[in-house]
Parts: sequence; C-alpha cells; structure tokens
Amino acid sequence: MNVYIFLLLIVVVVIDVLEASSDDITKQHYEKSVLKNHKDITRIKEKLGQWKNSVVTKLTSSETNHQKRTARHLTSKRNSVGNQPITLTELNKDLLDVLYQVDMFLTEKQWDDFLSKTNGKNRRKRQASSSSFRLWAMPIPYYIDTTTVDAHTKDLIEQGVAFWQNYTCLRFTELTAPSSPCVQFIKDNGCYSYIGYNRIIQDLSIGVGCEHFGIITHEINHALGVFHEQSRYDRDSYITIDFTNIQPASINNFNEETNTTTTNHNVPYDYGSVMHYGEADFAINPSIPNIYAKEAYQQNTMGQRFKPNFNDLLLINTHYSCLENSGSGTLPLFFTIEYPISETLD
Ligand SMILES: *[C@@H]1O[C@H](CO)[C@@H](O)[C@H](O)[C@H]1NC(C)=O
Ligand SMILES: *[C@@H]1O[C@H](CO)[C@@H](O)[C@H](O)[C@H]1NC(C)=O
Repeated sequence: MNVYIFLLLIVVVVIDVLEASSDDITKQHYEKSVLKNHKDITRIKEKLGQWKNSVVTKLTSSETNHQKRTARHLTSKRNSVGNQPITLTELNKDLLDVLYQVDMFLTEKQWDDFLSKTNGKNRRKRQASSSSFRLWAMPIPYYIDTTTVDAHTKDLIEQGVAFWQNYTCLRFTELTAPSSPCVQFIKDNGCYSYIGYNRIIQDLSIGVGCEHFGIITHEINHALGVFHEQSRYDRDSYITIDFTNIQPASINNFNEETNTTTTNHNVPYDYGSVMHYGEADFAINPSIPNIYAKEAYQQNTMGQRFKPNFNDLLLINTHYSCLENSGSGTLPLFFTIEYPISETLD
C-alpha cells in the first residue's frame, strides 16, 4: 500500500517537473521571440511593474468598493454566441508581464508618459494624437512576414486591412519588404500590437488562436491609436466593475484612461465595440461576470470579436478626420455593419 502511494508520488513529482520545464521552455521562447526587437525589455517590465503598483491602489479605492457591492445585485446570462475565439486574456496569458492591458505593447517613452501621469508628476496635457501617441500618415505601410504567417492567416489579415479601408478614409499599402515605419504582421506567441504610430517597424502579432477576423481588426485598431472600450474615462457611467472577482495580479488591466490623455471624439460608449473586454476576463470565478453593464440588456454584448461595429468605425473616421473630407467620395454616406447582435439578446 505504502509502496503504491510512494510510486504515485513519484509519478506526480515527475509530471510536475516535466510540466515546469516545458513551461520554462515556452517562457524562454516568448522572451526571445516577442522581445527580439526590444533590447529595452527589462526596463519596460520594470516600468510596467511600477505602474501596476500605483494604479491598483487607486482602482480598489472606497468608491469602487461601493460600486462592487451594488454590482452583486445585478444578474447576467453568460455570453452564448457561437464561433467566438477564446479570449485575448487566455491567448496572451504568458505575456502579461510585458503588455499593457492584455495586448498592447507600449514603447519605453509611452510607459514614461503613463508613469508620470499616474504619479501626478509632470502632468502634461496631450491629445491622443500628440506626444508619444501619433496618427499615421496615409497610406499606412504594412508588411506581412510570410516566413512566420501562413497563407490562410495572411488572407485574413488582408481582409482585416480591407475592412478598415472599406469603411474609413484610411488607406493602406502593402510592402514587399519591411521598411520603417510600417506595421509588420508576424506570427509570434499571442495577439498584440503597438498602440498608435511609433515611427518604427512595429510588430503586430497574430499568433496561434488569434487568426480570427475580429481579433485581427481589433489589433489593427490598436495600431491606429485606439485603447480598449472599457478603459474609457467615462466608463463608470456605463459599467460596474466587481474588483472582488478579478485575479489580484491582474487588477491593473482594469485601469481607465483620463480625459487629459485620451479623447472619445463624442462617440457614444458602446458595449458592442470590438475593443470591449468580455464580461469575465481575468475573473477569479469565470462563471460570473466582473464587468456588469449598467444597461443590463447589454450584458451579453460585451466582448464580441466578430468585427468592429458602427461606433468603432465612427471613432476612427473622426480621429483621422475622415468626416471632414467625406465630399471626396471615399467614405460611404451610410454604412451598416451587421453582426449577429440579435443572437446575443434575450
Ligand atoms: C472591401 O471592399 C471590396 C470592394 O467592394 C470587397 O470586395 C471586399 O469584400 C470588402 N472587404 C471587406 C472585408 O469589407
Ligand atoms: C476631466 O476630468 C476631471 C477629473 O475627473 C474633471 O474634473 C473634468 O471636469 C473633466 N473635464 C472634461 C472636459 O470632461
């Protein structure tokens, strides 16, 4: 009997060791591949660490504790829409110590801006398009690295680019070799993008599991300069966050932007934005939400990854001043984006 238990223990220990070492290999691979272009990665990790500490205290302040109590009274039905990719949170779980809010890669300069803002020092007023966050000039050059990206994913990327081009005044041009500046689509581990224009060859990764039209258009939108919907500075009027159902190490991913550093261009808050987190990302108990829509019927709209919706397009069309030039005929006067919202409603 004791011998059996002993053998069982050995098996368990061996399995643990094997798992640990394969995790280490994956981790090393991430560090090498994700970070191959980023010699400053250690400093970026440090900055992310400093920033995390400073935002978490703020987020879990007494005001939010009050909100989370009211949140418990709300109810929700889990999102049951078919064919949705698994969440970015899951896809990027090994990258969370280098990325901002799940899937954005900030440059060291952008981290410096964030830190000075969060620490209340050196508060400079800047718009989304100024300082370290800039607009692209047209046409936006992009390159698809076919040494890593397969033909099917390349096709999806081209469709994603075509979508933004079809419904905005943005114009893109595909390069045959990477050249600075450009968006370089690669297949790395996970799905991530730089935010905005950075005057470099900026990687945008469509890794395993990320090959979905909704995720690709989401990542391109980051490269265009857009943050996540639920981090808008006015989000507390639309959602209630239950911080008690967020894994403590991930609370920083629920920070909000400020009205001095970002602009919403008067575009309404949209639960159905392709940039909105799902209702239970980073949940301790994923069978209940940690984001509650104040308009309860919108609960299951959050987290859709089908395609950018009307307001996603309106934001970009405004941000890039497309509407002022609509006389040029490049922008349709009316456009409707159909995605199966009816399936998400009761
Ligand atoms: C973009 O427009 C072209 C031309 O009208 C069309 O063939 C293509 O399907 C559209 N693609 C997307 C993703 O909207
Ligand atoms: C920006 O936010 C601050 C602090 O939350 C607030 O006092 C101010 O009225 C806001 N300004 C605008 C233009 O919304």
